[in-house]
Amino acid sequence: MTQLLVVETSPRGNTSISRHMTRRFVEQWRAAHPGGDVVERDLMETGLPFVTAPWLEAYFTPPTQQSPEMKERLRLSDQLVAELLAADQIVIATPVYNYNVPAVLKAWIDHIVRKGMTLGFDGRGLLTGKKATVLIASGGIYTEGSPIRERDIATQYLRLILGVIGISDVTFVAGGGAKAVDLGEETMDGFVAKLAPDLKRAAAN
Ligand SMILES: Cc1cc2nc3c(=O)[nH]c(=O)nc-3n(C[C@H](O)[C@H](O)[C@H](O)COP(=O)(O)O)c2cc1C
Repeated sequence: MTQLLVVETSPRGNTSISRHMTRRFVEQWRAAHPGGDVVERDLMETGLPFVTAPWLEAYFTPPTQQSPEMKERLRLSDQLVAELLAADQIVIATPVYNYNVPAVLKAWIDHIVRKGMTLGFDGRGLLTGKKATVLIASGGIYTEGSPIRERDIATQYLRLILGVIGISDVTFVAGGGAKAVDLGEETMDGFVAKLAPDLKRAAAN
């Protein structure tokens, strides 16, 4: 059975534009993958800690020598990695904050880039054969032709880090100009409808 892992990051619940993009994507994905399984990882509900010295001590201790406390420290990270390993496809929905991904998504990345699990000891990514879609909501517009295109650090960073763990088949759907929804100049449905063909294409991929 095909499995889709959905990673949500916006704190804005039902007013989140990236979460509405996910909803549309998942509807289309279910239509394209009858019987497919959708697993959600909502980073707003996960309580992810940042990397700490004790966490690093556990990470750099060979598994056979880890104490029960060390194993416990790595438990959430292990679970996040297991979700990625089990997935055939991954969708990450994210806002742009200060030209990059929100801290909670960076924290997730710090927990899932694990030597020997997602990244080989030879530096090669281990998550080969998987596809990812990244749904990005941003106040500004960063697509081709934009005068602020070079500020699109979030896209560049996510492409880089997914490639590092072996996922090179990545589709980006850019929900630029999302501030029009917050300002009441455009409806949520209207905004998502404009992205619907891109979302459908990505979901059918
Ligand atoms: C703290 C903060 C920082 C932001 N920084 C940027 C930014 O650097 N560039 C941009 O285009 N939009 C920026 N925005 C706008 C958000 O990307 C936009 O509101 C987006 O819709 C948020 O995603 P969400 O609707 O899924 O929560 C920022 C919003 C917030 C709250």
